[in-house]
Amino acid sequence: MSNGLETTLPIEADPDAGASDYESQHNLQSSTASMTSSMYDFVYENGRQYHRKSADQYAMPSDETEKNRLDMFHHAQLCVLGGALYTAPIDPAKMHNVLDCGTGTGIWALDFGEIHENAKVTGVDLMPIQPTWTYPNVVFETDDLEKNWTYEKNHFDFIHSRHLGMSMRSWERYIQQCFDHTKPGGWLEISEHTLDRLHCDDGTLKDDSAVAIYYTAFRRSVEASGLDCELSAEKLKQYLRDAGYVDVSSRLYKVPWGPWPRNKNARYIGAVGAEVLSTGLEAYGMNLMTKVGGLTKEEASKLIVEAMKDIRGGQVHGYHKQWQVIGRKPEVGDE
Ligand SMILES: C[S@@+](CC[C@H](N)C(=O)[O-])C[C@H]1O[C@@H](n2cnc3c(N)ncnc32)[C@H](O)[C@@H]1O
Repeated sequence: MSNGLETTLPIEADPDAGASDYESQHNLQSSTASMTSSMYDFVYENGRQYHRKSADQYAMPSDETEKNRLDMFHHAQLCVLGGALYTAPIDPAKMHNVLDCGTGTGIWALDFGEIHENAKVTGVDLMPIQPTWTYPNVVFETDDLEKNWTYEKNHFDFIHSRHLGMSMRSWERYIQQCFDHTKPGGWLEISEHTLDRLHCDDGTLKDDSAVAIYYTAFRRSVEASGLDCELSAEKLKQYLRDAGYVDVSSRLYKVPWGPWPRNKNARYIGAVGAEVLSTGLEAYGMNLMTKVGGLTKEEASKLIVEAMKDIRGGQVHGYHKQWQVIGRKPEVGDE
């Protein structure tokens, strides 16, 4: 189902944005590895909790604030995809083994498992931040996807991977491992978004606006940490083809930062996005900007507060691009 975001056209801005009706109408304010005790070790920095074991590898927090953000982000994602959990043309009747990579709070895996009762859904993550209760067909494992996978080869009917742009050091290797463990005929779906800059179609995002200044500092920090800021749909599609996937394609969605679009749906998604960003700017940026970006905590906090004013204000029409990239593993004799 389309909701006006799957577009290459500019998103039309609401001239009255800033006097948002959303805050009043919607209550938005309001492993296979054994679990050793080290899995539950945390470090506290800048008022946030991070997972100690992953601290050198993954810069985002693991506390309740972040878990709430991830769950709200999942809601935003459902809105972006018109209520769907995925875009790949999978056959629900043929879903036996499904993998959700970097599952976070496990909310996607749980939703998928609830609808596809016959599928065994495995959610894997570096951090044990998933609920201890699950549906009988959903399991969570703690493991590092950048190491050699211990799953059976040719095993998964569907592999889902969402927003690991702040995680993966080698996309080529990761996607090759996805391929090796996809069952012939099965699908991989990767959902990622731009990290290089915020986009704008109508000139309202000026270089000296607070949100642009935040983004520049964020990008510099992400680059310094060795992650690929220039990830794009074209790059991801090439990695899928190089790994061996066929029927590779992508869809582009423009996801507004704030409740500025005229279209009601897009405006709602922008409003939810603003709530996600209200802790997300810190979750994404604080650790890297203070560790490798050369900012003090006070400087980074000020950037974040000022950028949020732009996002809520409705006058800066920024958005990020999100891609759903899919590919199918060929069956023997099919290509
Ligand atoms: C931004 S969150 C996205 C969570 C989830 N995919 C979603 O869309 O709601 C990224 C997740 O990837 C996990 N992660 C990062 N690096 C990982 C790795 N090497 N292996 C497994 N999980 C990883 C993090 O712990 C975090 O939970």
